[in-house]
Amino acid sequence: EAAEKGGYEHFMLKEIYEQPKAIKDTLLPRLRKSDEIKLDSIKITVGNIENLKRIYIIACGTAYHAGLLGKDMIEKHTKIPVIAEIASEFRYSEPLIDKETLMIVVSQSGETADTLAALRLAKEKGARVIAVTNVVGSTISREADDVFYTWAGPEIAVASTKAYTTQIVSLALIALDIAIKKGSISNEKYKLILEELKSIPSKIEKVLEDSEEIEKLADILCKKENIFFIGRGIDYHVSREGSLKLKEISYIHSEAMAAGELKHGTLALIQKDTPIIALVTQDKLYDKTVSNIKEVKARGAYVIAVAKEGNTDIEKSVDNVIYIPEIIDEISSLVSIIPLQLLSYYVAYKRGCDIDKPKNLAKSVTVE
Ligand code: G6P
Repeated sequence: EAAEKGGYEHFMLKEIYEQPKAIKDTLLPRLRKSDEIKLDSIKITVGNIENLKRIYIIACGTAYHAGLLGKDMIEKHTKIPVIAEIASEFRYSEPLIDKETLMIVVSQSGETADTLAALRLAKEKGARVIAVTNVVGSTISREADDVFYTWAGPEIAVASTKAYTTQIVSLALIALDIAIKKGSISNEKYKLILEELKSIPSKIEKVLEDSEEIEKLADILCKKENIFFIGRGIDYHVSREGSLKLKEISYIHSEAMAAGELKHGTLALIQKDTPIIALVTQDKLYDKTVSNIKEVKARGAYVIAVAKEGNTDIEKSVDNVIYIPEIIDEISSLVSIIPLQLLSYYVAYKRGCDIDKPKNLAKSVTVE
């Protein structure tokens, strides 16, 4: 097992560090020239796209969190309504599925029982299903109409890391592919996002090189019993994944809140030294989130911000800042999640937790 960990103490840390490569492996084979996407495995035609009324993205756990980001990207660029839902909820609702529905299921293992059942339900009702999965030959990959593999390599740690970021890249490519076929995105925007996607591996490497600062912050957080994450838009989606990572491996109670929703309840729990991790990477939402940071600071919270490099203004409002390299808002999740993964890892490490095999959790949930 030591050999498989490649010199890392845990699979989780190894998998966090594998992300630049996993992303390159997922992205580069899908580019024809350097600025054009070619998705051989997805046979969706312009005709299919024109008839699409809605898209569902269905998944569980971390894959659902990637799905939330997929929803934003697909809806924004294709102008087709997208609903992202947890598989175990979707199945028992009365979803509007017909032949004009496209379903994208996201599953690292390709075996999650609820996600598989959702796929079967959609197919029964005539929808086309694309699977985004990491395991070749998995049940979900066999039953879907089209398969988009995340080439992340085997993910062993229960807490998902490289599967999440490669799922986001896959959903971004699917979004861009549908949008360009539909003519709902400009060429410039399409090329800009592709260029930015190609820059992600080196930006992640930069965050990984600066992990010492993050390790120091873990000294403060590992003694806490409640930690809150806040953010808006994409930052909120990433907060949810950051919070899940932290709770699953460190056993610290954690919640992610849409920053604007704080004052509708969670603010009551904020007191002196309550730790808050605030994501402020979205330019257009920056001022709004800073005003929420001020609300929690006024109640004594200890705030760590995740912000883009060069944003020194944030230092006035918080106790600590983790900087990530400059990146367009749309795909900032691919970089902003990295410090949160590392933070969870170091907090769990300092608490002496069984990082790769957290209690009560399984890598793949094949029961309902
Ligand atoms: C379990 C795992 C998570 C994973 C979720 C969905 O809860 O511990 O890491 O995100 O299942 O799994 P899937 O294989 O469908 O992505």
